Amino acid sequence: MIRYKKLGYVALNVSNIEKSVEFYRDIVGLELVEMKEDIAFLRCSPDHHNFVLYPSNRPGLKRVAFEVEDEKQLTIATEKLKKAGVIATELAKAESDTLYQGKTIRFFEPNTGVTFELYNEIKQLNEPYIPKVKGVKPSKITQLGHAVVDVEDAKFDDALQFFMDVLNFKVSDFSGDKIGWSWMRAFPNPLHHTFAMVRGTETKLNHIAFMIEDFDSIGIGRNRLIDNEIPIVFGPGRHKPSSSIFLYFLDPDGMTMEFSNGMEEFPEENPREPRLLEPNLETLDLWGGTPDPRFGAIGEIEKGN
Ligand SMILES: [Fe+2]
Repeated sequence: MIRYKKLGYVALNVSNIEKSVEFYRDIVGLELVEMKEDIAFLRCSPDHHNFVLYPSNRPGLKRVAFEVEDEKQLTIATEKLKKAGVIATELAKAESDTLYQGKTIRFFEPNTGVTFELYNEIKQLNEPYIPKVKGVKPSKITQLGHAVVDVEDAKFDDALQFFMDVLNFKVSDFSGDKIGWSWMRAFPNPLHHTFAMVRGTETKLNHIAFMIEDFDSIGIGRNRLIDNEIPIVFGPGRHKPSSSIFLYFLDPDGMTMEFSNGMEEFPEENPREPRLLEPNLETLDLWGGTPDPRFGAIGEIEKGN
């Protein structure tokens, strides 16, 4: 079974690359590493990139990439996918070199259409990542946290099966009478979730999260967002499933981003069983908040890239 190291990077399509770079660098606090042919590479770790922006007139999710433990995992993944009828393509060296990644495979998850990429190494920068924003105190981002997608009702169960059986994701918690949310960890990464799915009417991006170091960073982030007139669409609050403190806000295209502090971690062996949680607002926010209707509303999933 495939063994993962971590969620490596997320690639988004954005309608105005300059505006989005400014937002993610100056307001969110990612570091812009380089612009290459209108593609922006940003980071929040020693990796060359953890967040990549592509210009497009259809804002949304382009790709989700995971770093696996070693090169052998790529062979295991390719075989496992093939058995499930999914072809994983190895990137030509010229393309993986452009991404500063080692051997890289790409495939489309058949139920959601999400493009996934797996790689075993990425260029490490000598300079440490230091969270910085324009003029004021930053929120201390420690790493890229998780990606969440809405999955249309008819495809949800098959998608969940695929993530568990083929991709070796482990479910940490479910919610719903008919499972409505599924929070998953990329085994054996200990984080409660690095990927999650929400049963919905259509398949689209729900949100992307950045993990932050301390509670102060949530409050500091909130003030910074307000000062810059960035819409806050949920929070601050506390999620029941992962026990994280959260703050959700919108990027320039209206895509939902999250600052998330603290998260339950699972041991590789003998982890607790997933819980089936009640599908109510208290599960989403123990502090009793309600998401704004703009929460998770924007973000087309690019097919076949
Ligand atoms: Fe989240």
